[in-house]
Order: sequence, then C-alpha cells, then structure tokens
Amino acid sequence: MNIAADFARSYDGAILREIFSKEEIAGAIERLAGEIVADHRRVPLTLLGVLKGALYVVADLARAISAQPDGPSEIAVDYIAVSSYGNTARSSGEVRLLKDASDPLTGRHVVIVEDIIDNGLTLEYLRALLGERNPASLRACVLFDKPFHRMAQVPVEYAGLQVPDEFVVGYGLDYQELFRNLPYLAQLRPEVFTDG
Ligand code: PRP
Repeated sequence: MNIAADFARSYDGAILREIFSKEEIAGAIERLAGEIVADHRRVPLTLLGVLKGALYVVADLARAISAQPDGPSEIAVDYIAVSSYGNTARSSGEVRLLKDASDPLTGRHVVIVEDIIDNGLTLEYLRALLGERNPASLRACVLFDKPFHRMAQVPVEYAGLQVPDEFVVGYGLDYQELFRNLPYLAQLRPEVFTDG
C-alpha cells in the first residue's frame, strides 16, 4: 500500500502545518515579478522553468510579469528538466539533466526559474551549463529559499521566501511525486513518510 498516495487523496489529513499560505505565495510572486520587470524593460525575456517543481512558479510569474506596465518586449517560456533528489526526502547531491531547453538561449535575456534552492548544486550546475550558451544575460529566480545546507554559494538575483529547515511540499514541491498541486506550502505529518 502506498501511504503517501492514501493521504494525498485527502490532503488535509496529511498536513502538519501550513508554512506559507496561497496569499503569501501570491504576494511573493508579485514582488519577484516587479523585480524582474525592473531589470528587463523593453528586452526579450526567456523564463526558463526547471521541471518539475517550477511548473506553478513559471505559470504565475509569467502572468504577473506581463500584467505589469513597461516590462519585457516579449516573454518566452521554456523548460529544462533536472533531478537531484530522486524519490526520497533527502537530496543526494547528484544533478542529472533529464530534458534540455527546447530553444537556443544565445542572445536571450534568461531568467532561470526554480521552486526551491537547498544545497544549491542544481542551480550551480544550471548556471554553468546555460552560461556557456552565450545568453545576453543570465539570472536566477527562486521562490523558496532553504539556506541551511548550502554546498554551493550560487547567486540568486530574485529570492522569494525563506522556508524553515523542514521537508516541505506544495506549490510544485512533491513527496514521491504527490502534493505538487497543493496551493500552499506545507509540512507533512511524520506518518506520511514511507522512506524513513
Ligand atoms: C528540487 C528543486 C530544485 C532542486 C533544488 O528538484 O525543484 O530543482 O531540487 O535542490 P538543491 O538546491 O539541493 O540542488 P527535484 O530534484 O526534487 O526535482 P523536481 O523539481 O522534479 O521535484
């Protein structure tokens, strides 16, 4: 029996506490959009979402950016897929490229969009990989910052909300591929975890 899947049928029973509400997340996205707009007025912008977790951040951020006046001349959305955690609650520290961006980034103003930064190795890997493609500029936007176990001191130009040193799910973040669609960020009850 998959315990996480059982709980996921009714998220309420699986949640220990809400860490950031839907409204707090929306506020952070709005602020990040403003900061990105200020740096990308009248230039073509590519938001490069890092799958799978950044799915919701990219969707909300792209719309928040285009709702602001005097922003980028165009907003393209692309995705790259990496994996660092495998299927467990702990980071393995290993980064694998699962899917590359669809379009060349040469000459584009690129903002890497991440749901969370933890040890920083994923973003460090991506900045090195994408930097070699000669973008016009390369910056990073991360909604949730977990600064407690950094292994790579990688720059984050647009940082959202600092999260506590707990395993968190929701708004794109998963446990065993579940809970991504939770509209807020939450900590799970200990009994949900099946992998120790
Ligand atoms: C998460 C997250 C980041 C990465 C950050 O992805 O989306 O990409 O981990 O961790 P780090 O700073 O410790 O490297 P994950 O590998 O869990 O894949 P997912 O987005 O598909 O859930």
